[in-house]
Amino acid sequence: MAKKQVEVEENSEEESFEEESEKETEEEETAEVKPATIISTEEVFDIEHIPGVGATTARKMREAGYKDAMGIATASPVGLAEVCEIGEATARKIIEVARSHLKMNFITGTEMLEKMKKVKLIKTGSKALDALIGGGVETQSITEAYGAFGSGKSQLAFQLAVNVQLPEEQGGLNGDVVWIDTEGTFRPNRIMQLAKVKGLDPERVLAKMHVARAFSADHQILLAEKVPELFQQHPNIKLIIVDSISSIFRSEFVGRGTLADRQQKLNKHIHDLQRLADRYNAAVYITNQVMAKPDMFFGDPTQAVGGHVLAHASTYRVYLRHSKGDKRVAKLVDSPCLPEGECAFKIDENGISDIEI
Ligand SMILES: Nc1ncnc2c1ncn2[C@@H]1O[C@H](COP(=O)(O)OP(=O)(O)O)[C@@H](O)[C@H]1O
Ligand SMILES: [Mg+2]
Repeated sequence: MAKKQVEVEENSEEESFEEESEKETEEEETAEVKPATIISTEEVFDIEHIPGVGATTARKMREAGYKDAMGIATASPVGLAEVCEIGEATARKIIEVARSHLKMNFITGTEMLEKMKKVKLIKTGSKALDALIGGGVETQSITEAYGAFGSGKSQLAFQLAVNVQLPEEQGGLNGDVVWIDTEGTFRPNRIMQLAKVKGLDPERVLAKMHVARAFSADHQILLAEKVPELFQQHPNIKLIIVDSISSIFRSEFVGRGTLADRQQKLNKHIHDLQRLADRYNAAVYITNQVMAKPDMFFGDPTQAVGGHVLAHASTYRVYLRHSKGDKRVAKLVDSPCLPEGECAFKIDENGISDIEI
């Protein structure tokens, strides 16, 4: 299961809060404060109805992408305060209210077990890599591959997009694919090549792939939001790929001032993806490019854009590294239920496979 994003804040400022909050509210808000009636559904949340939030703050919050209860509830007080130019105590209060409005979908352990029984696996093509990540890429989870340019992140995406279309006994799920391409690196020819290797009809494989190019961070987020509509037409989607999750965010948000904003949007995006995985019992595979550090055997994962946000959202994080020739090394990093470990596999014209010994 995915680790949840809710940060537990220390309440060291609790005592002075009331006073501080009143002061801030007076200073920054003249707009009428509506009563705190509960208006929330899972998706819609009327920011103006939070006590102390007037039109100005509400507008700033919306502009910054804090639109729904979940987005606000999982924001950090410092980030929210910075983006909306409000005091941290007020931000804390707003987050608290959003949290109290959230539908907490508690389920029993028994229900959880039933849900987990539905988890399916997509094989990667390498038994060693499958074993490393617990049998294959799981539905209901986000699997993240991170690594330097050329380490094989997109190749794994191509392979999974083909393999998921295989029948279950061959390591697939007879499923369709959603592919959000943010770098313009999707290649139908490569898909066709890999499909042929698996004995699938290349045209049919392509026809079951739903590809969209994202041009901005907001566009990328919107594409993920639109996936439920796609599911209505193609209920058999079993794999959602975002290649890469971070590149647009990296280029669009430059400088420290925009960091909180970027993390907040990325957080929302990742959360949307996790929700899709849960709701449709689909696998989510995301890639994340990190800079290679020549002085380190394994690159520092915190160097990745959204390092912190992503590290906590992905259930499985695999660090990929190009070794000699067609050899690749994969390392499993901080998995909730599997030991850390590493394995070798190869990528060649036929796709992903084991290295013969
Ligand atoms: N058709 C192919 N035949 C053999 N190797 C390939 C083929 N296509 C890609 N590769 C290998 O995959 C590498 C690119 O990996 P890719 O997944 O695109 O990297 P990234 O991690 O940046 O997404 C190439 O450098 C090459 O080694
Ligand atoms: Mg790539």
